[in-house]
Amino acid sequence: MTDKLIIFDTTLRDGEQSPGASMTREEKLRIARQLERLKVDVIEAGFAASSNGDFEAIKAIADIIKDSTVCSLARANDRDISRAADALRGANAWRIHTFIATSALHMEKKLRMSPEQVLEQAKASVRFARNLTADVEFSAEDGYRSEIDFLARVCEAVINEGATTINIPDTVGYAIPELYGNFIRTLREKVPNSDKAIWSVHCHNDLGMAVANSLAGVKIGGARQIECTINGLGERAGNCAMEEVVMAVKTRRDYFGLDVGIDTQQIMSGSRLVSQTTGFVVQPNKAVVGANAFAHASGIHQDGVLKARDTYEIMRAEDVGLSANKIVLGKLSGRNAFKQRLQELGIDLDSEAEINAAFAKFKELADRKSEIFDEDIIALVGDDSVTS
Ligand code: KIV
Ligand code: ZN
Repeated sequence: MTDKLIIFDTTLRDGEQSPGASMTREEKLRIARQLERLKVDVIEAGFAASSNGDFEAIKAIADIIKDSTVCSLARANDRDISRAADALRGANAWRIHTFIATSALHMEKKLRMSPEQVLEQAKASVRFARNLTADVEFSAEDGYRSEIDFLARVCEAVINEGATTINIPDTVGYAIPELYGNFIRTLREKVPNSDKAIWSVHCHNDLGMAVANSLAGVKIGGARQIECTINGLGERAGNCAMEEVVMAVKTRRDYFGLDVGIDTQQIMSGSRLVSQTTGFVVQPNKAVVGANAFAHASGIHQDGVLKARDTYEIMRAEDVGLSANKIVLGKLSGRNAFKQRLQELGIDLDSEAEINAAFAKFKELADRKSEIFDEDIIALVGDDSVTS
């Protein structure tokens, strides 16, 4: 089994399905360029048959992106698949991603089709797509809630028709990491030709476990593609957050043993771009890209980090594209952090007594003000009671 983990970004398709996150063609192009800078393997640029605007946006992305595979979603029918191919044809490398639901609930209530009809439609659509391109992904929508033996039959059949990637979504974010991982593993074991395709996971975040589920799908299940979005954007509670899975796999390479091609130094710019474009604010305590992700406020932590960063940092701020970590001065800060900030500001107090006096003033102020900024410190040391 390969040691490479494929990062399939769907910010521009599933991410855009987030209510209020719809993007113009220009906005999509800007994000696609950033995704290419991030070196994502596959960019799902949209759903070509959904609107003329999306078709044009995918076409424009296919024309400019050189290093990533460009993909369009398509329902399992010839019209959608042809439309996807028409939008993608100009790309250096392109993929058709076709899907149909396989859970009993979706087949009966939504599609109003029998399992046998779904199976036949899945096969026919992959066959049709394979005549247009060699790179065909098949997704079993609501795969995780599907009856596993039926799902295995569908997977085996579409691999026989030439599907090169098989994606098993947890469409409604119902999975639990260990159960999802085992589901993917058992499913692969039930599919006799499973090693002819790359297995992929696509997890939604309704119970806040999209990242954990995706990682379990990889570690326990043997999947080698993760579908994700920047900032975890997506339907309802969103998708698996790209920055989180990527940093987890990189930081814990000892555990996962997999390579990811992402240029992590582009993560912060990507996060900010998506946030500014959609107006979706990133919460301050969001892992990896939140404003506080690399900030230290407690005196004990600040002291530790100033002595050795590994004491309280498992990743470097610089690795995700920030210039440095952040020592937030406030009432919990200690003398060491305060002294360090004085040095950074070029303030050279003459004696330890002066530093002590300034530190006492700083503590007084910090009890009244939640964060102390550089201007506060400059004003504070200019006070006669410190330097006289
Ligand atoms: O969540 C889902 O099931 C999807 C599929 C269309 C891949 O987004
Ligand atoms: Zn989805």
